Amino acid sequence: MKRIYNDLNLASRNSFGVSETARVVIEFDCAEELKAIFGSERPQKWYVLGAGNNTLFTQYYDGTILTPVCSNRTILSDDGVDVVVRVEAGHDWDGLVEWSVEQGLWGIENLSSIPSSVGAAPVQNIGAYGAEAKDAITVVEYFDTRSLEVVRLTNEECRFGYRESIFKQELKGVAIILAVELKLSRTPRPNLGYGDVIKEVEARGGATLRNIREAICAIRSSKLPDPKVLGNAGSFFKNPIVERSVLERLLERYPDAPNYPVTSDEGRCKLAAGWLIDRAGLKGWRDGCVGVHDRQALVLVNYGGAKGGDVVRLAGFVAQRVMDEFGVEISPEVNVL
Ligand code: EPU
Repeated sequence: MKRIYNDLNLASRNSFGVSETARVVIEFDCAEELKAIFGSERPQKWYVLGAGNNTLFTQYYDGTILTPVCSNRTILSDDGVDVVVRVEAGHDWDGLVEWSVEQGLWGIENLSSIPSSVGAAPVQNIGAYGAEAKDAITVVEYFDTRSLEVVRLTNEECRFGYRESIFKQELKGVAIILAVELKLSRTPRPNLGYGDVIKEVEARGGATLRNIREAICAIRSSKLPDPKVLGNAGSFFKNPIVERSVLERLLERYPDAPNYPVTSDEGRCKLAAGWLIDRAGLKGWRDGCVGVHDRQALVLVNYGGAKGGDVVRLAGFVAQRVMDEFGVEISPEVNVL
């Protein structure tokens, strides 16, 4: 059932922990409620806030925040090998990963411990340790605020890319995600190629689902700050995709610069923004109540009491230093409002 709050402080609803207020916050359950909202007094300005792990509020939000709270999980099909599950937008992402591991279902274990709601996962195609949400998502169901209809998009129609999807492009400001369908499998398919994953999995006795989940959780917690302890939104910047000539120039000066191929475009490659920030001398940099995390330079943190503007200023300073040092532009992954 719908709940409405007026002039609500958002500090506990964003992982940066910044204290800004929204004029209206509506927690909704289903498409019918959205139809009633958009069919009558259509909000002029609105934004969907899931678990608030990728949004930075920098001022009073003079509009309506919509948060899905529906969190049912339903198995749609099970042929003994593959299982298709429908999960509503308000379900916790890591709760879904834990459930899949308990059930012996492969496909999303490398995405363990990512702070997110299920509804937010397809928007930026969350990814980590060689896996992305798009590898398992088959359908995304959304409410279209123009037609007031529920629409289903297939994986291809979602146009997923690195931290990209149609929901950040044409459907931005149009779609409100209601549910996601994922195909998981009982056939083991360990994906251990990224960084230290294989070492950590072997240390736990081999590639079982549970060991992989535990290994990933351990790697993440050794590098990434817990937002409940230190406000942050995971990676603040995206890893930049650059022309190969830029990489070649970088490698002349820094032969160890990490870089990854971009499968869809052989002329370009991806650099590690965390490495660039680190090499620009900013890992652990602190400016008052904000700073660059001392174990993963891609993460900006709120040491307590920061305003969104403080984080934005730090981000601008970091991006400028990376530009001055390497001539590479880095841009935020986080939505700044
Ligand atoms: N590196 C440094 N210094 C740093 C950080 C990284 O030298 O301070 C180097 C690492 O040694 C490594 C390379 O940069 O050679 C890449 O680092 P890492 O493997 O930690 O991954 P990342 O590119 O920094 C991305 C995702 C993370 C995800 C990890 C693991 C983005 C924007 N970030 O980070 O996602 O957990 O890979 O797959 O793509 C998130 O989006 O919030 C997030 C945490």
